[in-house]
Amino acid sequence: MTEFSSRVEAVSISGIREVFEAAGADAINLGLGQPDFPAPEHARQAAVDAIEAGETDAYTSNKGIRELREAIAEKHDRDNDISVDPADVIATAGGSEALHLAIEAHVAVGEEVVIPDPGFVSYGALTRVAGGEPTPVPLREDLTLSPAAVEEAITDDTAAFVVNSPANPTGAVQSEADVRAFARIADDHDVLCVSDEVYEPFVFDGEHHSPMTYADSDNVVVVNAASKAYSMTGWRLGWVTASTRRIERMLRVHQYAQACASAPAQYAAEAALEGPQDHTVEMREAFEERRDVLLDALEDMGLEVPTPRGAFYAMPRVPDGWVEAVIDRGVILVPGAAFGEHGAGHARISYAAGVETLKEALEIMRQVTNDLQ
Ligand SMILES: Cc1ncc(COP(=O)(O)O)c(C=O)c1O
Repeated sequence: MTEFSSRVEAVSISGIREVFEAAGADAINLGLGQPDFPAPEHARQAAVDAIEAGETDAYTSNKGIRELREAIAEKHDRDNDISVDPADVIATAGGSEALHLAIEAHVAVGEEVVIPDPGFVSYGALTRVAGGEPTPVPLREDLTLSPAAVEEAITDDTAAFVVNSPANPTGAVQSEADVRAFARIADDHDVLCVSDEVYEPFVFDGEHHSPMTYADSDNVVVVNAASKAYSMTGWRLGWVTASTRRIERMLRVHQYAQACASAPAQYAAEAALEGPQDHTVEMREAFEERRDVLLDALEDMGLEVPTPRGAFYAMPRVPDGWVEAVIDRGVILVPGAAFGEHGAGHARISYAAGVETLKEALEIMRQVTNDLQ
């Protein structure tokens, strides 16, 4: 009988889904990894117009329509100070496929990928699916990733390290000095840096920095997406940006696994990138206001919580049984252990929910915290 591949048997369904499935229908959901805003109207309309004009019925080029890749190149120029040839971009089915391409194309069987712990669930899983070995690196006290710790974890077998700023599940934002150090590590060790920048616009204090801006070699692959930046998770549109030789290798995987990203989504993302950015700014302002509400309340309860400077997550340190008790009382959040061994003892709280909902949930967290003391 046909059994399953050892690569697929090495991964399991994400712990995040399990939490959702266990929760009641009227629970308050602070477990979600997507903004609670509609997509920009002009992005939706661009897809409608392209569909009605009959422009979305056929495959696009494997890399995606030229206009979208030009809009992505302009975005890199505008926001990251990087000059990118639109030919060096592949439009993908979300940031998820972009991560898959980066890892599949660069990690050989048995090679290692250094990943943040706690970190986004896909990094370790995609490494295993590629036949590689994740090397989790614990975070600093403030939940940022230390370049020194990454450098120490690199061995002769390391194919890549992953940087994610702003980060899921921590909300941590790496400083410019850290990002410069990651670029130097990629150059000096001749190891690939996969930079996951899907939360790029949501930085509250300071600025977003990309290692690609600072690297001298072509050892950085940037992963980004319309998903969070424009609240378009359902559209499934992301991209990878890298040097020509790396794009050519990633295109081999993309061509056979995907052919091309969904055509309507490509038109929508092009409009989102080229159109007014005030929708994204509004989301950032809302997230910052909620971050402050959440942080004040958690600190007032006596919980220790490193200040998240971006994305829309906070990761307080919580007593034993806290996450389970909060979920039992109808507020969904994700146990930190779902994001790696060093996530244990933390909870990931997503504040992609309105302030009133957040306050209601915080009241329940306060009761639970009091009960456990
Ligand atoms: C850090 C990070 N990278 C990538 C992704 C994948 O995003 P997408 O919906 O674009 O596939 C997510 C989704 O939650 C994420 O949190």
